Amino acid sequence: MPTKTIQPDSTRKAQANNVVKSSPEAIARAVELLQQGQLVGMPTETVYGLAGHGLNPAALARIFEVKQRPLFDPLILHFADMAGAFAMARQIPTAARVLAQRFWPGPLTLVMRKLDVVPDLATGGLATVALRVPAHPVAQALLRAFDGPIAAPSANRFGRISPTSAQAVSVELGLAVPLVLDGGACEVGLESTVIFLSEHKPVLLRAGGVPVEELEALLGPIERARAVDDQPQAPGQLKHHYAPRKPLRLVQRAAEIPARADVGWLTFGKQSLEKPFSGVVENLSPKGQLREAAVNFFRLLRALDDNPRVNELYATLLPTEGLGLAINERLERAAS
Ligand code: TXA
Ligand code: MG
Repeated sequence: MPTKTIQPDSTRKAQANNVVKSSPEAIARAVELLQQGQLVGMPTETVYGLAGHGLNPAALARIFEVKQRPLFDPLILHFADMAGAFAMARQIPTAARVLAQRFWPGPLTLVMRKLDVVPDLATGGLATVALRVPAHPVAQALLRAFDGPIAAPSANRFGRISPTSAQAVSVELGLAVPLVLDGGACEVGLESTVIFLSEHKPVLLRAGGVPVEELEALLGPIERARAVDDQPQAPGQLKHHYAPRKPLRLVQRAAEIPARADVGWLTFGKQSLEKPFSGVVENLSPKGQLREAAVNFFRLLRALDDNPRVNELYATLLPTEGLGLAINERLERAAS
């Protein structure tokens, strides 16, 4: 397989002009690239994905190479509908049907025992596979036209901030991706919720776009997998993730943030109005809405990280309910 070195940021920013507004022609071109084993930037309602042919080991290997992602961290396979997704599963637990009927298409990923057709590279050699049916119309159009599973991790280099716009994908991965389909800003803004389902108890592997309370309303109490330091038993639980380049510290209250001009503060709600602040403030949702905060989260974290005035980042934690839990989990990993 050809190896392409990933270039330093400044050159990548200058070169990348691979963003194309989605159209029937752009979708057809994307399908052609996927069939050749190349990668495409794909919008979804959660974050942008780095899409490759889900059953082609060379394309899967290229995803790991471009993302610089360790091979033990498995990928999500995307499908146009439930029938396509479940065709990859060895067994379909009742809970899987219940959740799929309620939340697909949408920001939920179901991990289930896999059939042999699913390549080991997609699953990190695990006996399970992660399945998702995204709702974004461009993802749906691409999946229908491609007519097979599309593997797509978030389109960022491993451990970094997830992209929620086509431009962010282009800046992050540059010409390693020949085409980024532009489907606008992501409507959810956080990755899908990932849940493991078997004949036994369901386990939440990643909080995300569907609040866990909504899953529990259907399934009863759901156990949480714990974060770990190195190679995880349940991948996706790595403590260090979503990392900005600059140091990030989390605080409970605004009063704990140093009053320096080179501090960037990621805030939420009315906190920013409580005291004068000489640094740079980005507010996830001045109105204090968690949905709006989710949509803005990765974009504003990236904006502070890229702001040349800022040397150190601070974030105040959000209310611990609904999407606030999913955002706090990302903040904690970004700060660790
Ligand atoms: O919203 C999303 O899920 C986005 C969009 C593009 O669909 N994709 C995404 O993919 O976030 P990625 O690769 O960044 O995150 C997938 C997560 C990882 O934490 C991975 O470890 C976990 O899902 N995962 C995948 N397969 C798994 C499996 N068989 N068992 C446990 N965890 C799995
Ligand atoms: Mg990711």
